[in-house]
Amino acid sequence: MITRRAMLTGTLSVAGAGLLAGRAVAATPSVGALHGRWGRTSAAVAVPPAFSVRMPRLPELSPISTLGGVDWYRVVLKETVHEVLPGSQTRALTFDGHFPGPVIRARTGRPVVIRHHNALSDPVSVHLHGGSVSQANDGGPMDTFGPGSSRTYTYLNRQSGAPLWFHDHAHHLESEHVYRGLSGSYLLSDETERSLPLPRGQYEVPLALRDAHFDEAGQLVYVMDDVFGRSTILANGRPTPYFPVAARKYRFRLLNSSNMRFFQLRLSDGGSMVQIGSDGGLLERPHVTDSIGLSPAERADVVIDFSRYRVGSQVVLENTLGPGTPEEVGQVLRFDVVRSAEDPSSVPEVLRVLPAVASLPAPSVHRNIVLSMDEDGREEPRGLMDGKVWQMGRIDQTVRHGDSEIWTVTNANKIIPHNFHMHLVQFRVLERNGGPVGAEEAGLKDTVRLFPGETVKLHATFDTYRGTYVYHCHLLDHSAMGMMANFRVE
Ligand code: C2O
Ligand code: CU
Repeated sequence: MITRRAMLTGTLSVAGAGLLAGRAVAATPSVGALHGRWGRTSAAVAVPPAFSVRMPRLPELSPISTLGGVDWYRVVLKETVHEVLPGSQTRALTFDGHFPGPVIRARTGRPVVIRHHNALSDPVSVHLHGGSVSQANDGGPMDTFGPGSSRTYTYLNRQSGAPLWFHDHAHHLESEHVYRGLSGSYLLSDETERSLPLPRGQYEVPLALRDAHFDEAGQLVYVMDDVFGRSTILANGRPTPYFPVAARKYRFRLLNSSNMRFFQLRLSDGGSMVQIGSDGGLLERPHVTDSIGLSPAERADVVIDFSRYRVGSQVVLENTLGPGTPEEVGQVLRFDVVRSAEDPSSVPEVLRVLPAVASLPAPSVHRNIVLSMDEDGREEPRGLMDGKVWQMGRIDQTVRHGDSEIWTVTNANKIIPHNFHMHLVQFRVLERNGGPVGAEEAGLKDTVRLFPGETVKLHATFDTYRGTYVYHCHLLDHSAMGMMANFRVE
């Protein structure tokens, strides 16, 4: 780990970025210090049997002011202690003391201004994932603010409703920072969405899923590329919890906030779920399915109707994908149907209207992008985008403002899965492996799965902001190893 960090530090300093080299070097002792500081609890804490703790609802932040039609927030990034495993005092890096991070609710057309104060010991950068924002507000990998300082981000919210989220993006630290807790939800809604009779209020539940690796003392263990160690599944920050529900419809706002884990979710009785939205907001039509896939950073908006279950019954949300045994990672949470309730909600046949793929603006440029990672078992695998490790200041793709483009993105690996995320835009997925895409990928997306050998063809229009942004694998351990590149819209 240290050697890999040192290697990246070396790579980055060769880029001639004095500032960056300084930061990267500073990062090493600080991360080392984290490990020392975080291993001190002595009592052994174990992962409990499944369904022994209740799943909490995520806290929602309130604006400190709504003056001038703008929602103003203040958030402090700090280390706090949480009971994640029962009886534990797990140290986490948090937005305002919440693990997992809080929910911010925003409305299309209404700006949000957030002042983040960094009370941590590392530089951070807060990125609004899926947001259409200017470069200055994007929270890019090098646009960090240091310990003791603050940074204000302005989100104009000039995009349609979408379940966005925010997380640290400080290059090479983001992976550990997000793992230790620096992520939160940003649920942007628009008029169309609010006019639909979907489940709301207590029946709309943000749900952040991730994995984690705990030591004997109940502390989070961070080892880069720790694919097999992270074998405890957390739902809203608790290990395989139960969640009491009424026998009616619920809307779950699912976010996979794992660094590297892919989920494939199903109900234990094989019952159906209705996916109504993805990364970029509502789908055009509800998609009835018995299985929902989520790679890291992907979101799914899902309605489950518990009225088909008798009060007193239980149904488990299961995960059918490894790594890890079914005993370890096969169960995510259990819904306990505890009461009946009225249900005025419904899922309309048409949720929104999106331009038909055939009528999207004609692309002026086609690009091919290849993701790969050394998988020959070497000590220090590199993460590569088009054969290159990310370098600050190197513009890898130049896009003409206003243009539409087709990006064909391939995972060249044989074993290692990746995914692909672009800042600034929501795109459409035109093809997967040369064929049509499933209903779950037919809406607006900002992150797309790439199992080994897979190829997707994306259509994006760059008609909002000019500036330099990144695209990367959202398996954050991979992007921290360099699987990232820069594009400039000019
Ligand atoms: Cu979720 Cu580059 O971001
Ligand atoms: Cu990857």
